[in-house]
Amino acid sequence: MKVGEKGDVVGAEEVERAAVAKRRRAGEGGGGAVGRRGRRRGGMQGAAAGVQRLFQACRHVFRGPGTVPKPDEVHLLRAMLDRMRPEDVGLSPDLKFFRAKDATQGPPTITHTTIYKCPNFSMVILFLPRNAVIPLHNHPGMTVFSKLVLGSMHVKSYDWVDPEPDTSVSSCSSSSSDSELRLAKLVVDDVFTAPCDTSVLYPTTGGNMHRFTAIAPCAIIDILGPPYSIEEDRDCTYYTDFAYTHRPKGWFVFLFGAADDTGDLNNVEQDQARLAWLKEIDMPRELKICSVQYRGPPISDK
Ligand SMILES: [Fe+2]
Repeated sequence: MKVGEKGDVVGAEEVERAAVAKRRRAGEGGGGAVGRRGRRRGGMQGAAAGVQRLFQACRHVFRGPGTVPKPDEVHLLRAMLDRMRPEDVGLSPDLKFFRAKDATQGPPTITHTTIYKCPNFSMVILFLPRNAVIPLHNHPGMTVFSKLVLGSMHVKSYDWVDPEPDTSVSSCSSSSSDSELRLAKLVVDDVFTAPCDTSVLYPTTGGNMHRFTAIAPCAIIDILGPPYSIEEDRDCTYYTDFAYTHRPKGWFVFLFGAADDTGDLNNVEQDQARLAWLKEIDMPRELKICSVQYRGPPISDK
Protein backbone atom coordinates (compact mmCIF):
# COMPACT_ATOMS: atom_id res chain seq x y z
CA MET A 1 0.00 0.00 0.00
CA LYS A 2 1.37 3.37 -0.97
CA VAL A 3 1.07 6.15 1.56
CA GLY A 4 -0.42 9.29 0.10
CA GLU A 5 1.40 12.56 0.45
CA LYS A 6 -1.68 14.40 1.58
CA GLY A 7 -4.35 13.35 3.97
CA ASP A 8 -6.76 14.23 6.70
CA VAL A 9 -4.92 14.05 10.00
CA VAL A 10 -7.87 13.40 12.29
CA GLY A 11 -6.93 9.76 12.86
CA ALA A 12 -3.31 10.67 13.52
CA GLU A 13 -4.27 13.35 15.98
CA GLU A 14 -6.49 10.94 17.85
CA VAL A 15 -3.66 8.46 18.17
CA GLU A 16 -1.21 11.14 19.23
CA ARG A 17 -3.56 12.86 21.68
CA ALA A 18 -4.37 9.56 23.31
CA ALA A 19 -0.71 8.61 23.53
CA VAL A 20 0.30 11.94 25.06
CA ALA A 21 -2.53 11.83 27.61
CA LYS A 22 -1.58 8.31 28.56
CA ARG A 23 2.05 9.29 29.07
CA ARG A 24 1.04 12.26 31.19
CA ARG A 25 -1.20 10.13 33.40
CA ALA A 26 1.62 7.65 33.81
CA GLY A 27 4.20 10.37 34.45
CA GLU A 28 6.33 9.30 31.49
CA GLY A 29 8.89 11.72 30.19
CA GLY A 30 9.03 10.40 26.65
CA GLY A 31 9.10 7.32 24.51
CA GLY A 32 5.96 5.47 23.58
CA ALA A 33 2.45 5.20 24.87
CA VAL A 34 3.05 2.05 26.82
CA GLY A 35 0.16 0.92 28.98
CA ARG A 36 0.37 -0.08 32.61
CA ARG A 37 0.17 -3.73 31.68
CA GLY A 38 3.37 -3.28 29.66
CA ARG A 39 5.25 -1.83 32.63
CA ARG A 40 4.22 -4.68 34.89
CA ARG A 41 5.73 -7.09 32.36
CA GLY A 42 9.08 -5.40 32.24
CA GLY A 43 8.34 -1.83 31.13
CA MET A 44 9.87 0.12 28.31
CA GLN A 45 13.08 -1.81 28.55
CA GLY A 46 11.34 -5.12 27.89
CA ALA A 47 9.24 -3.64 25.08
CA ALA A 48 12.29 -2.04 23.48
CA ALA A 49 14.12 -5.34 23.64
CA GLY A 50 11.27 -7.04 21.76
CA VAL A 51 11.19 -4.59 18.87
CA GLN A 52 14.99 -4.43 18.81
CA ARG A 53 15.22 -8.21 18.43
CA LEU A 54 12.64 -8.08 15.67
CA PHE A 55 14.66 -5.40 13.87
CA GLN A 56 17.87 -7.42 14.14
CA ALA A 57 16.13 -10.50 12.78
CA CYS A 58 14.78 -8.47 9.86
CA ARG A 59 18.27 -7.17 9.11
CA HIS A 60 19.48 -10.76 8.98
CA VAL A 61 16.57 -12.14 6.94
CA PHE A 62 15.97 -9.50 4.26
CA ARG A 63 18.87 -9.47 1.83
CA GLY A 64 17.49 -7.02 -0.69
CA PRO A 65 15.37 -6.87 -3.84
CA GLY A 66 15.02 -10.15 -5.70
CA THR A 67 15.46 -12.29 -2.59
CA VAL A 68 12.79 -14.13 -0.63
CA PRO A 69 13.35 -15.27 2.98
CA LYS A 70 14.02 -18.98 3.38
CA PRO A 71 11.44 -21.16 5.18
CA ASP A 72 13.42 -21.27 8.43
CA GLU A 73 13.81 -17.48 8.31
CA VAL A 74 10.08 -17.07 7.74
CA HIS A 75 9.49 -19.36 10.71
CA LEU A 76 11.80 -17.22 12.86
CA LEU A 77 10.20 -13.89 11.97
CA ARG A 78 6.72 -15.33 12.22
CA ALA A 79 7.42 -16.69 15.71
CA MET A 80 8.82 -13.34 16.84
CA LEU A 81 5.84 -11.44 15.47
CA ASP A 82 3.39 -13.93 16.94
CA ARG A 83 4.76 -12.97 20.36
CA MET A 84 4.54 -9.21 19.77
CA ARG A 85 2.16 -7.41 22.07
CA PRO A 86 0.72 -3.92 21.56
CA GLU A 87 3.03 -2.49 24.24
CA ASP A 88 6.08 -3.78 22.33
CA VAL A 89 5.48 -0.96 19.85
CA GLY A 90 4.19 1.59 22.34
CA LEU A 91 0.46 0.85 22.12
CA SER A 92 -2.23 0.01 24.62
CA PRO A 93 -5.81 -1.19 24.13
CA ASP A 94 -6.73 1.58 26.58
CA LEU A 95 -5.90 4.28 24.04
CA LYS A 96 -8.97 6.24 23.00
CA PHE A 97 -8.34 5.33 19.38
CA PHE A 98 -8.95 1.65 20.10
CA ARG A 99 -12.00 2.29 22.27
CA ALA A 100 -13.71 4.60 19.77
CA LYS A 101 -17.18 3.45 18.84
CA ASP A 102 -18.61 6.47 17.07
CA ALA A 103 -18.63 6.51 13.33
CA THR A 104 -16.50 9.27 11.84
CA GLN A 105 -17.83 11.57 9.16
CA GLY A 106 -16.71 10.57 5.70
CA PRO A 107 -14.19 7.85 4.91
CA PRO A 108 -12.07 7.08 8.01
CA THR A 109 -8.45 8.20 7.78
CA ILE A 110 -5.78 5.54 7.98
CA THR A 111 -2.65 6.44 9.92
CA HIS A 112 0.78 5.09 9.13
CA THR A 113 3.97 5.24 11.13
CA THR A 114 7.41 3.96 10.17
CA ILE A 115 9.40 2.17 12.88
CA TYR A 116 12.38 1.67 10.57
CA LYS A 117 13.13 1.76 6.87
CA CYS A 118 16.17 0.83 4.80
CA PRO A 119 16.60 -0.36 1.19
CA ASN A 120 16.12 -4.01 2.20
CA PHE A 121 13.04 -3.79 4.46
CA SER A 122 10.67 -1.54 6.32
CA MET A 123 8.83 -1.95 9.61
CA VAL A 124 5.61 0.04 9.85
CA ILE A 125 2.41 0.21 11.86
CA LEU A 126 -0.97 0.86 10.26
CA PHE A 127 -3.86 2.24 12.30
CA LEU A 128 -7.31 1.63 10.87
CA PRO A 129 -10.33 3.24 12.50
CA ARG A 130 -13.54 1.21 12.50
CA ASN A 131 -14.86 0.78 8.92
CA ALA A 132 -11.61 1.98 7.35
CA VAL A 133 -10.66 0.14 4.18
CA ILE A 134 -7.24 -0.36 2.64
CA PRO A 135 -8.35 -1.11 -0.91
CA LEU A 136 -7.18 -4.12 -2.87
CA HIS A 137 -3.50 -3.51 -3.68
CA ASN A 138 -0.39 -5.50 -4.52
CA HIS A 139 3.14 -5.96 -3.18
CA PRO A 140 5.32 -6.39 -6.28
CA GLY A 141 8.34 -8.59 -5.63
CA MET A 142 7.86 -8.36 -1.88
CA THR A 143 7.51 -10.66 1.09
CA VAL A 144 5.22 -9.09 3.69
CA PHE A 145 4.60 -10.13 7.29
CA SER A 146 1.42 -8.72 8.84
CA LYS A 147 0.68 -9.01 12.53
CA LEU A 148 -2.63 -7.68 13.82
CA VAL A 149 -1.81 -6.59 17.37
CA LEU A 150 -5.09 -4.86 18.21
CA GLY A 151 -8.59 -4.90 16.77
CA SER A 152 -10.47 -6.95 14.24
CA MET A 153 -10.46 -6.83 10.46
CA HIS A 154 -11.67 -8.66 7.40
CA VAL A 155 -8.98 -9.72 4.96
CA LYS A 156 -9.56 -10.67 1.36
CA SER A 157 -6.54 -11.65 -0.69
CA TYR A 158 -5.71 -13.05 -4.10
CA ASP A 159 -2.83 -14.41 -6.13
CA TRP A 160 -2.70 -14.45 -9.90
CA VAL A 161 -3.81 -17.72 -11.45
CA ASP A 162 -0.87 -17.37 -13.78
CA PRO A 163 1.96 -15.27 -12.30
CA GLU A 164 3.52 -15.08 -15.78
CA PRO A 165 0.45 -14.03 -17.75
CA ASP A 166 -0.37 -15.70 -21.02
CA THR A 167 -3.19 -13.64 -22.50
CA SER A 168 -4.54 -16.59 -24.45
CA VAL A 169 -5.57 -18.42 -21.32
CA SER A 170 -6.08 -16.10 -18.41
CA SER A 171 -7.02 -12.61 -19.46
CA CYS A 172 -10.12 -10.76 -20.47
CA SER A 173 -10.26 -7.50 -22.39
CA SER A 174 -12.67 -4.97 -23.75
CA SER A 175 -12.76 -4.12 -27.44
CA SER A 176 -12.86 -0.43 -26.52
CA SER A 177 -10.04 -0.30 -23.99
CA ASP A 178 -6.48 -1.39 -23.54
CA SER A 179 -7.16 -2.22 -19.90
CA GLU A 180 -7.31 -5.84 -19.00
CA LEU A 181 -9.00 -7.97 -16.45
CA ARG A 182 -6.67 -10.59 -15.09
CA LEU A 183 -7.70 -13.84 -13.52
CA ALA A 184 -6.91 -14.23 -9.82
CA LYS A 185 -7.63 -16.92 -7.25
CA LEU A 186 -8.94 -16.21 -3.78
CA VAL A 187 -6.46 -17.03 -1.02
CA VAL A 188 -8.00 -15.54 2.13
CA ASP A 189 -11.53 -14.32 2.83
CA ASP A 190 -11.79 -14.23 6.58
CA VAL A 191 -12.04 -12.14 9.74
CA PHE A 192 -9.01 -11.85 12.01
CA THR A 193 -9.23 -10.69 15.60
CA ALA A 194 -6.20 -9.89 17.76
CA PRO A 195 -4.41 -11.69 19.23
CA CYS A 196 -3.93 -13.86 16.15
CA ASP A 197 -1.13 -15.45 14.19
CA THR A 198 1.04 -13.53 11.76
CA SER A 199 0.18 -13.82 8.08
CA VAL A 200 2.82 -13.88 5.35
CA LEU A 201 2.52 -13.12 1.66
CA TYR A 202 5.17 -13.73 -0.99
CA PRO A 203 5.82 -12.28 -4.45
CA THR A 204 3.56 -14.82 -6.17
CA THR A 205 1.83 -16.75 -3.36
CA GLY A 206 0.17 -16.28 0.01
CA GLY A 207 -2.24 -13.56 -1.22
CA ASN A 208 0.08 -10.92 -2.67
CA MET A 209 -2.92 -8.68 -3.41
CA HIS A 210 -5.07 -7.93 -0.41
CA ARG A 211 -7.75 -5.69 1.05
CA PHE A 212 -8.16 -4.88 4.76
CA THR A 213 -11.51 -3.74 6.19
CA ALA A 214 -11.50 -2.77 9.86
CA ILE A 215 -14.38 -4.21 11.84
CA ALA A 216 -13.01 -2.67 15.05
CA PRO A 217 -10.15 -0.13 15.33
CA CYS A 218 -6.97 -1.94 14.32
CA ALA A 219 -3.21 -1.74 14.67
CA ILE A 220 -1.18 -3.86 12.25
CA ILE A 221 2.59 -4.30 12.31
CA ASP A 222 3.69 -4.73 8.70
CA ILE A 223 7.18 -5.78 7.68
CA LEU A 224 7.87 -5.36 3.98
CA GLY A 225 10.95 -6.79 2.33
CA PRO A 226 11.90 -5.01 0.21
CA PRO A 227 9.82 -1.82 0.70
CA TYR A 228 7.85 -0.09 -2.05
CA SER A 229 10.13 1.87 -4.36
CA ILE A 230 9.09 3.76 -7.47
CA GLU A 231 12.77 4.06 -8.47
CA GLU A 232 13.18 0.28 -8.34
CA ASP A 233 9.85 -0.40 -10.10
CA ARG A 234 7.99 -1.55 -7.00
CA ASP A 235 5.13 0.93 -7.00
CA CYS A 236 1.76 0.02 -5.53
CA THR A 237 -1.08 -0.89 -7.89
CA TYR A 238 -4.72 -0.80 -6.82
CA TYR A 239 -7.40 -3.12 -8.17
CA THR A 240 -11.09 -3.70 -8.20
CA ASP A 241 -12.34 -7.27 -8.26
CA PHE A 242 -15.22 -8.86 -10.14
CA ALA A 243 -16.62 -12.31 -9.51
CA TYR A 244 -15.52 -14.75 -12.20
CA THR A 245 -19.09 -15.11 -13.44
CA HIS A 246 -19.95 -11.38 -13.23
CA ARG A 247 -17.38 -9.59 -15.32
CA PRO A 248 -18.47 -6.19 -16.70
CA LYS A 249 -20.61 -6.03 -19.83
CA GLY A 250 -18.71 -5.67 -23.06
CA TRP A 251 -15.73 -7.63 -21.83
CA PHE A 252 -14.70 -10.77 -23.64
CA VAL A 253 -12.81 -13.66 -22.19
CA PHE A 254 -10.03 -15.31 -24.12
CA LEU A 255 -9.80 -18.92 -23.08
CA PHE A 256 -8.96 -20.44 -26.46
CA GLY A 257 -7.52 -23.90 -26.30
CA ALA A 258 -7.30 -23.82 -22.56
CA ALA A 259 -9.53 -26.80 -21.89
CA ASP A 260 -7.49 -28.96 -24.22
CA ASP A 261 -4.01 -27.83 -23.40
CA THR A 262 -3.83 -26.83 -19.77
CA GLY A 263 -4.88 -28.98 -16.89
CA ASP A 264 -4.54 -25.91 -14.70
CA LEU A 265 -7.40 -24.11 -16.34
CA ASN A 266 -9.57 -27.20 -16.21
CA ASN A 267 -8.99 -27.26 -12.47
CA VAL A 268 -9.69 -23.55 -12.31
CA GLU A 269 -13.03 -23.99 -14.05
CA GLN A 270 -14.06 -26.50 -11.43
CA ASP A 271 -13.77 -23.94 -8.65
CA GLN A 272 -15.18 -20.74 -10.10
CA ALA A 273 -16.33 -19.53 -6.70
CA ARG A 274 -12.70 -18.93 -5.75
CA LEU A 275 -11.89 -17.00 -8.91
CA ALA A 276 -12.15 -13.30 -9.66
CA TRP A 277 -11.21 -10.87 -12.37
CA LEU A 278 -8.97 -8.06 -11.17
CA LYS A 279 -8.76 -4.73 -12.96
CA GLU A 280 -6.19 -2.06 -12.28
CA ILE A 281 -7.59 1.22 -10.99
CA ASP A 282 -6.17 4.55 -9.89
CA MET A 283 -5.56 5.04 -6.19
CA PRO A 284 -9.12 5.49 -4.84
CA ARG A 285 -9.91 9.11 -4.02
CA GLU A 286 -11.63 8.20 -0.80
CA LEU A 287 -8.44 6.61 0.52
CA LYS A 288 -7.00 8.92 3.16
CA ILE A 289 -3.65 8.02 4.64
CA CYS A 290 -1.49 10.20 6.81
CA SER A 291 1.89 9.58 8.37
CA VAL A 292 2.89 10.31 11.95
CA GLN A 293 6.16 9.96 13.77
CA TYR A 294 6.80 6.64 15.50
CA ARG A 295 6.83 7.19 19.28
CA GLY A 296 7.10 3.63 20.50
CA PRO A 297 10.21 1.99 21.96
CA PRO A 298 13.18 3.11 19.85
CA ILE A 299 15.47 0.73 17.99
CA SER A 300 19.15 1.10 17.35
CA ASP A 301 20.73 0.19 14.00
CA LYS A 302 24.28 0.46 15.30
FE1 LIG B 1 -0.62 -4.47 1.90
